[in-house]
Amino acid sequence: MFLEDTIQVQAGGQARGYTIRVGQGIRRSLPQMIPAHAKAHRYAVIADERVAELYGVDITEGLQGEGRDARLFTFPPGEGSKTREEWARLTGAMLDAGFGRDSAVVAVGGGVTGDLAGFVAATFMRGVPLVQVPTSLVAMIDSSLGGKSGVNVPEGKNLVGAFHSPHLVVVDPEVAVTLPREERAQGLAEAVKHGAILDPVYLADLEGEIPSVMKGEVGATGRVVVRSIEIKTDVVSKDERESGFRKILNFGHTLGHAVEAAGAYALPHGSCVALGMILEARVGERMGITRKGTSETLLKMTSLLDLPIRLPTELAPAVVLDFTRSDKKGRAGRPRYVFLSQLGKVVADEDWAQEVPDEIVLEVLEDASR
Ligand SMILES: NC(=O)c1ccc[n+]([C@@H]2O[C@H](COP(=O)([O-])OP(=O)(O)OC[C@H]3O[C@@H](n4cnc5c(N)ncnc54)[C@H](O)[C@@H]3O)[C@@H](O)[C@H]2O)c1
Ligand SMILES: [Zn+2]
Repeated sequence: MFLEDTIQVQAGGQARGYTIRVGQGIRRSLPQMIPAHAKAHRYAVIADERVAELYGVDITEGLQGEGRDARLFTFPPGEGSKTREEWARLTGAMLDAGFGRDSAVVAVGGGVTGDLAGFVAATFMRGVPLVQVPTSLVAMIDSSLGGKSGVNVPEGKNLVGAFHSPHLVVVDPEVAVTLPREERAQGLAEAVKHGAILDPVYLADLEGEIPSVMKGEVGATGRVVVRSIEIKTDVVSKDERESGFRKILNFGHTLGHAVEAAGAYALPHGSCVALGMILEARVGERMGITRKGTSETLLKMTSLLDLPIRLPTELAPAVVLDFTRSDKKGRAGRPRYVFLSQLGKVVADEDWAQEVPDEIVLEVLEDASR
């Protein structure tokens, strides 16, 4: 039996702190917990159609059963819904239904729902309280935490958005049971990253837990979710606005994003990050920054997740290299990389991220595409 856990997030800067509760079956307490943390006269529960049917309807009816004014708003599942158009449709539907300043938004779903509904909460009446109920592993350990919300635009992903911290995050690992296996792997890729940058013990534990989490086993999912949440919230609370330390969460993401963009977003983010971590560890090893053997361990774990360990053949290494230069996190067009010194430890000098000669990156990309 998996015990219930409460994680209190201490926010830095001007942001508020908030509570994250993780527990098996805890979603059944949402009708009482939501009003206690996010006071409002009306609750807009936002979910994609698939998650609405599985969990959103129950949560909405639960709130109504407690005498709350709650209404469910849905949209088609998938990244294609994370748009200004869908944001306009949802905010319009809320206005038409008479929602006003005294509303709160409850986002029930994966990262798409969290980002889209979070952006609705950030902007509706200049901002209303937000409760995150993440249901995918990506959302549980990554996107529901840290307060980033937003939508994609034709010019690129996540380019229009806002910081809007939730009032409460509620994670029920039981819902991972209905999550497709490939979606579990997507979230686990970021869990591997958490261990790789900060916690070698967690990384070693993960190796044992991955097969159970991949089967949707609740206890293992709960343990992984709790440790990953602790690591991510700890990093974010030390650097709310991404000026320094938080950059370490970008390990694997410079090359990961480049692979993702070069492939026109056909490969999912977690797959690209898993590959990006292997490739960046190899770059670090070649530069003498990263301990030899690091990339080998990351490759082994990526294989356990059934995620690709080689560059897709249709992606030319030179094209991927080009895409590293359009990474929005780079400075003046020069991409920067976060390096591990060894598993569980990042290189702290040079503001957490550094530039790399193109030739080395190209060599590593070429080796990975043979
Ligand atoms: N804000 C951030 O800091 C941040 C961080 C990482 C990722 N993201 C964003 O998150 C998004 C990806 O999130 P995602 O992978 O969760 O995608 P998603 O929200 O599309 O969910 C993936 C699929 O799983 C389904 N699903 C979710 N939970 C389920 C459950 N319990 N049972 C059955 N099906 C379920 C969804 O309907 C969807 O089809 C991207 O848009 C990415 O940009 C944001
Ligand atoms: Zn990521």
